[in-house]
Amino acid sequence: MLRVDRRRLGCKPSGVIVLHSLEDLNRHREAAGPGVFVPTMGALHAGHSALVVHAAELAAQRGLSAGCSVSIFVNPTQFNDPADFQRYPKTLDADLEACRVAGARAVFCPSVTDVYPPGATADAKPLPSVATEPGLEDRFRPGHFAGVCQVVHRLFDLVRPAAAVFGEKDWQQLQVISAMTRERRLGVEIVPHETIREPDGLAMSSRNRFLGVEDRRRGLVLRRALLAANSASTPEQAETLMREELSKDGITAPDYAVVRNAQTLLPSMAGPWRALITARVGSVRLLDNLSWTPRS
Ligand code: PAF
Repeated sequence: MLRVDRRRLGCKPSGVIVLHSLEDLNRHREAAGPGVFVPTMGALHAGHSALVVHAAELAAQRGLSAGCSVSIFVNPTQFNDPADFQRYPKTLDADLEACRVAGARAVFCPSVTDVYPPGATADAKPLPSVATEPGLEDRFRPGHFAGVCQVVHRLFDLVRPAAAVFGEKDWQQLQVISAMTRERRLGVEIVPHETIREPDGLAMSSRNRFLGVEDRRRGLVLRRALLAANSASTPEQAETLMREELSKDGITAPDYAVVRNAQTLLPSMAGPWRALITARVGSVRLLDNLSWTPRS
């Protein structure tokens, strides 16, 4: 039974409980028990809503009365580009409404000092190899996964969920978080959720709003290139096909367009495989990925 003073916890008239501080969070957690968690940086779109809907359903199926909780925290330690951090969209009112509509029970909006108390020692735990060895996001965003592991580990410690849902769009992040949770024995089940796309196939992202009309159209080439890879019978051939397709829309220097082992993200002749592309389109770095199997 959930015994929480909803007014004291900042319950919006709409029904979602907004947890503004560690005190709020602790009170809520002690009353509600473990639930299913969706960590976000806000600027929520339909892709996030799908994660929240899935988390709420999972909590109901498992009889977890805490339901789904969401965090909204733009984590400064995972931005390797300060300009990207500065311009990260902040849309709190709309985010709270999206959480309510999708069925979240509580939204945790911590401050930087809640997450990183002054004087606390920095997280020196080793990163899983999938965060440092593949030469993908780890190469193009140095320090990014150290920041992601730091914040996700800290949020898991604070929220103590039974399970947490992450989108497949950030495929390397999903593998990093799964490996970190396993290796550090955090006791949280990591639940993947398929990428949600716009009707024309563009993977949803908080950064899509920065695409101009022409770049929004060109962005569709990432998905076309991933689909083109399906007619290849080796990873090498698939990479060639992806690059050819990208260059038709003027993308001649993607950060990467590769086929890798889906879990380790290392080059491999053994599946299961994942095809992954990241390319700058205008001022926006777009990511997409798809499962890949050789054509027999
Ligand atoms: O995917 C994201 O939005 C962020 O990297 C995450 C997992 C919420 C950590 O800040």
